[in-house]
Amino acid sequence: MSDPARAGFGLGLRKPHYAEFLEHRVAVDFLEVISENFMVDGGQPRKILRDIRARYPVALHGVSMSIGSADGLDPLYLTRLRALVDEIDPIFVSDHLSWSRTGGFCAHDLLPLPYSEDALTIVCRNVAQAQEALGRALLIENPSSYLSLPGDMPEWAFLDALCARTGCGLLLDVNNVFVSATNHGFDARRYLDGIPAKHVRQIHLAGHSRGETMLIDTHDQTVPPAVWDLYAYVLPRLGPVATMIERDDAIPPLYALLAELAIARRIARDAERLSA
Ligand SMILES: [Fe+2]
Repeated sequence: MSDPARAGFGLGLRKPHYAEFLEHRVAVDFLEVISENFMVDGGQPRKILRDIRARYPVALHGVSMSIGSADGLDPLYLTRLRALVDEIDPIFVSDHLSWSRTGGFCAHDLLPLPYSEDALTIVCRNVAQAQEALGRALLIENPSSYLSLPGDMPEWAFLDALCARTGCGLLLDVNNVFVSATNHGFDARRYLDGIPAKHVRQIHLAGHSRGETMLIDTHDQTVPPAVWDLYAYVLPRLGPVATMIERDDAIPPLYALLAELAIARRIARDAERLSA
């Protein structure tokens, strides 16, 4: 098996597949779990994750660090995440370029940020705080968005500057690029051309649904052809990158997700041939 953190092919671990992953040696290079589902003191969730970790490399993916909060990060959240990191020794720890908390208010959504110098200063400060607390680099994921706020730079330039200033890496979600590009009318390929290749450590592939006026990042469908096309487009520039399929709803049998992962492996092999 190649280094899973460099060029592995993985899946998100979801409840309907726990038993199969634990009872069989499934042909994945790593599994990604939602950090918050396991940030508990002991109990069954933590035991399951330890058992999974004994069989597979694991990536931790968070949804509520709120890296864009102007009032800083929650120290208790960071302490709990650090305890999980120390126990699981993950290949990646990631969260989203978004915010969900301010003061006592907590939204259960990944809300967008303006891509301004002021916001960049805040996000850099928070990423530095998180990296200090966790003792390792974070990966930050480009969000899918439905609302664009006034800002001074494109999202890819914001992410580029964030990586350069903090040493964090990028989790490039190709479906999120497609969803945002469609919703806001920008060119997804131009966006991918701007992404700093040297900072991309992981890729997410997923599906979405069509709402009345925009695409919604629902993760309840197979990866659509347009997202596979963008993956094939960007890979030769990135080189080998750990890649996984994200599925959060309408979870299919495991063999269906493994079939999608086989498509990703084939595209990556073709990209390697192209760039050789
Ligand atoms: Fe994602």
